[in-house]
Amino acid sequence: EQAQERILAARSRLGEEAVILCHHYQRADVYRHADLTGDSLKLARLAAQTSSRYIVFCGVHFMAEVADILSQPEQVAILPDLAAGCSMADMADLAKVTRAWRELGEVLDGDPAEVYTPVTYINSAADLKAFCGRHGGIVCTSTNAPHIMEWALARRPKLLFFPDQHLGRWTGHQRGIPLEDMLVWDPDLPYGGLSPEQIRRATILLWKGHCSVHQMFTKAQIERWRARHPQGYVISHPECAFEVCLASDYVGSTEFIQSTVRAAPAGTEWLVGTEFNLVSRLAEEMAPQGKTVQFMGGVVCMCSTMQRIDPQHLAWTLDNLVQGRVVNRIAVPGEVAQWAKVALERMLSAT
Ligand code: 13P
Ligand code: SF4
Repeated sequence: EQAQERILAARSRLGEEAVILCHHYQRADVYRHADLTGDSLKLARLAAQTSSRYIVFCGVHFMAEVADILSQPEQVAILPDLAAGCSMADMADLAKVTRAWRELGEVLDGDPAEVYTPVTYINSAADLKAFCGRHGGIVCTSTNAPHIMEWALARRPKLLFFPDQHLGRWTGHQRGIPLEDMLVWDPDLPYGGLSPEQIRRATILLWKGHCSVHQMFTKAQIERWRARHPQGYVISHPECAFEVCLASDYVGSTEFIQSTVRAAPAGTEWLVGTEFNLVSRLAEEMAPQGKTVQFMGGVVCMCSTMQRIDPQHLAWTLDNLVQGRVVNRIAVPGEVAQWAKVALERMLSAT
C-alpha cells in the first residue's frame, strides 16, 4: 500500500518526464501504473516513439535493451529490477552462436552468410541482435515471425533460428516447411549434434531453447478441457510446444491473445495457454460480459522474472528519479547498439 502511494506521488512529480511501459505479463499491482502496454513488438515501437526522458520498463532485460537501442541518445531506459531476465534469452549466447556459425561455414566449405540468414527472436541479448545485424540477419517477435521468415527465405535459402525452437518450428510449419526439414541444433554439442548430411538437408536449424513457462502446457490439458467445454475455444502463445499449438484454435502473441478474447462474443468460453498474470487479468475483465477465461496450466505458471518487477522496485526507481538520480539504467554499448539497431530496423521496416 505504501509503495502504491509512493508510485502515485512520484508520478505526479515527474509528469511527462517519465513514461511507464508494461508488458502484458506484469503483475496487476504494477500493470495498473502503465502509461503504455503491449507485446514485445508493440512495446518496441512505442519505445521508439515516446518523447519522455525516462523510459521505465516494466518487463524483462531484453525489452529494456530494445527500448534503449530504439530511443534517442538523450533518453534513458530503466529496468526497476536488474535481476528481471528471461531464461529463454539466456539459452543462446554470442560465443555459442558464433561457434555454430563457424561450424556451418566448415560444413558448407564457404561463407555461411551465402546460405543462411540468422534470425533471432526478440527474446535475446543485444549482442545476438548485433550478430544478426552484422550478418544480414533480422529480429522477429511472436507477432511478426511468419512475415520475417518470409522476408528471410526470400533472400537466402536457409535459416539459423534462435533461441526459441518452438516459435521457429510453429512458424516454419505455418509456412509449409515439413517438420523433417526443421532440425534442432543443440549448442552444447559439436555441429549442433547433427551430421553434415542433416545440416545440408535442413531448411531451418532450430536452436535448442525454450520458455520454461510455456513448456509446462500440454496437449492432454487441452483435450481434458475440450471434453468438458465442447463449444469452447483454445488460444495459445507460439512459445508453447508444437503439439499444443496444433491442438489450439488460435495461436499468437500476448497482444493477439488479449484482443482476440476481448473481441469474442459474450458467453464464449476460453482456455488460454500463456502466462498466468495475463490470463487472470483477462478473466476478470471478461467476467461482466459472461465470457469465461481459464488458465491452461495444471499448476499456476508465472514468469518468475517478470514477477520481480514489484511495486517496491517501481517506487524505489521513481523516488530516485524525483531526487534526480538514475538507478538501474540499461545502456547497450555503442557498437553493439549500432548493429542491433540495424537488425531491429530491418524488422520494423519489413513489417
Ligand atoms: P509477446 O511478444 O507475445 O508479448 O511475447 C513475449 C514473451 O516473452 C512471451 O513469453
Ligand atoms: Fe522469457 Fe518465458 Fe518469461 Fe517470456 S514468459 S519473458 S519467454 S521466461
